[in-house]
Amino acid sequence: MRAGGSDPIREAARLLAGRRNAVALTGAGISVESGIPSFRGAQGMWAKYDPMEYATLHAFMRNPRKVWEMLSEMVSVCGFAAPNAAHKGLAALEERGVVRAVITQNVDGLHQAAGSRRVIEYHGNLDELLCVYCWKRYPTRLRWTPGTVPLCDCGEILKPNVVLFGEPIPWLAQEQAEEEARTCGVLVVIGTSAQVSPACDIPRIAKESGAAVVEINPEETSLSGHVTDIHLRGSASEVLQRMLGALST
Ligand code: APR
Repeated sequence: MRAGGSDPIREAARLLAGRRNAVALTGAGISVESGIPSFRGAQGMWAKYDPMEYATLHAFMRNPRKVWEMLSEMVSVCGFAAPNAAHKGLAALEERGVVRAVITQNVDGLHQAAGSRRVIEYHGNLDELLCVYCWKRYPTRLRWTPGTVPLCDCGEILKPNVVLFGEPIPWLAQEQAEEEARTCGVLVVIGTSAQVSPACDIPRIAKESGAAVVEINPEETSLSGHVTDIHLRGSASEVLQRMLGALST
């Protein structure tokens, strides 16, 4: 079922309208238009911060102050960001009963801010800080200010409740995400390079379970031409708005 038709957006809209139990998998690309840089590529966070030095659990345990140099930038940028037309488009598709859940790799909380109700945060969220020694939790906005390193009452340096490299995915999020992938009719994959596992396995699970895979990304990814049935090249906000339009006619 390749995008043989004249208008892949219409083709994808027909799929969504026909099957109605779609799930979305999103990555950093959906938040780029909200001013949050993605991770890979020339402008990505990992071009500025070596992830092996700044984004592994081992690096955090070894030198949390250094890792907070990167985390501070992420918390600040995400703190100022607002949902864009793509986030709002997904929330509207949920409202219409076309999309039933969003599985996100993002830690920025923008899907919820846009009004999406069922959001599975596969890599956690920056809104909460966790002590990796006494497991106490705090709202980030109450415990962190720019330029500081947040401390727990026990005196240890706090870590955002996000999944760093080398850390397991929260088991409930993994369970829920795989269940959604196994039972959806369409998986809409938006703004991810699909290079990080186990998140990159979700499209394969959906495909093997009989779902159609629609990819929204201006670039080719490891999914394109293999797992993807319809590749909609373009920015998330532009493509989702056109999809909503096609679903309304
Ligand atoms: N609309 C849609 N897609 C876009 C846009 C846009 N406006 N801008 C960029 N993209 C695409 C890029 O082409 C790229 O394929 O978004 C993708 C972003 O890829 P990555 O930066 O690799 O981000 P992601 O796939 O979410 O990374 C996965 O890796 O670093 C870890 O934990 C981090 O959750 C993250 C995970």
